[in-house]
Amino acid sequence: MRDVRRAIHANPELSHEETATAALVRRELVAAGLREIEAVAGTGLLVTIRGRRSGRALALRADLDALPLVEASSVPFASRRPGVMHACGHDAHTAILLGVAIALHGQRERLRGSVTCVFQPAEESEPLGARQIAEAGHLKGIDAILALHVDPGLPVGQIGVRSGPFMAGADSLQITIRGRGGHGGLPHLGVDAIAVAAAVIQELQQIASRRIDPLEPVVLTIGRIEGGTAPNILADHVLLEGTVRALDERVRLRVRAMIRDVVGGVARAHGAAGTVEVLPGEPVLRNDEALTDLIRGAVRDVLGPAALHEMPRPELIAEDFAFYLERVPGAMFRLGVGSPAKGIVHPLHHPGFALDEKALPIGAGVLLGAVWRFLEAGTVELPHSRPRRREGGR
Ligand code: NI
Repeated sequence: MRDVRRAIHANPELSHEETATAALVRRELVAAGLREIEAVAGTGLLVTIRGRRSGRALALRADLDALPLVEASSVPFASRRPGVMHACGHDAHTAILLGVAIALHGQRERLRGSVTCVFQPAEESEPLGARQIAEAGHLKGIDAILALHVDPGLPVGQIGVRSGPFMAGADSLQITIRGRGGHGGLPHLGVDAIAVAAAVIQELQQIASRRIDPLEPVVLTIGRIEGGTAPNILADHVLLEGTVRALDERVRLRVRAMIRDVVGGVARAHGAAGTVEVLPGEPVLRNDEALTDLIRGAVRDVLGPAALHEMPRPELIAEDFAFYLERVPGAMFRLGVGSPAKGIVHPLHHPGFALDEKALPIGAGVLLGAVWRFLEAGTVELPHSRPRRREGGR
């Protein structure tokens, strides 16, 4: 796992370009004797390990892609591709799942049921790999799905778990304000789209602070603004781009409607026109109670109770694993990879991000423990009803 992780780390590939990474995974699987491999979503792979006895079907997921970032680290296996870096630990996720697949293949005679390992492309950018795989129907017949994500904020040896809402639903916003151009010294003869955009940005912040229950987390960030051509010319249009996140799907839909109201209403009040395009991203990631318990049990079995860290709060970062959870119950847990004594302290997506490789066998051990617990009948009660497909479209 360490060698594979380093090889992938040195040769990172952006979303939907993970051809060398997928080829490496496939090579290792084939060399270990695994044959049931299927290409999915372009560069992704599904590999299924079937036990001798029939039983339930579990899926495990890893992601293959890296980020557009210049690596600032001195490890000998640092990125050889300038401007591309595995700064979210997906190299480790892939290496761990590969190790798990090969281990399960070696134990298949004793396995009851099947395990499908999903090596998905494009967790980091649209079109999101998990959405493509889920929508293409590859989860048909799967009873549950599990995944891990590295966490440099947790010391190596610790596993973070949380049931219920865990990560945010996130949408991208594109807002256009159309005014009327003119001379900067004669504002009354035009409609200054920049002044209107400023009012829109201010009013949008009232949604989270005044209109949504303060106990419901919502964040709305305008991260990009573009408009105007010269200091003395009224801008006739402005483009605003942002992200809006929530931990409840109903709140997410209400906020979308409020954004349209605010943008349209404020623009109209100033004699301008405002339009909103919502680009739906990841759904809210909600960990299934019973499957989170399954992971807790696996952590206690494999590492002991002291390794279990109950995560006190959800986070407003998003994760496309949530697309699988719209169709199949599942859970994601955090794998501690932090090591302050070794200087491994940087957060995900940071150019100095690193991870303690001692976490590789720990992550694989917890996944294997969870597989055995799940496939041994009777140890986990699945929820009776599957999560309903959200209505109203994204
Ligand atoms: Ni990630």
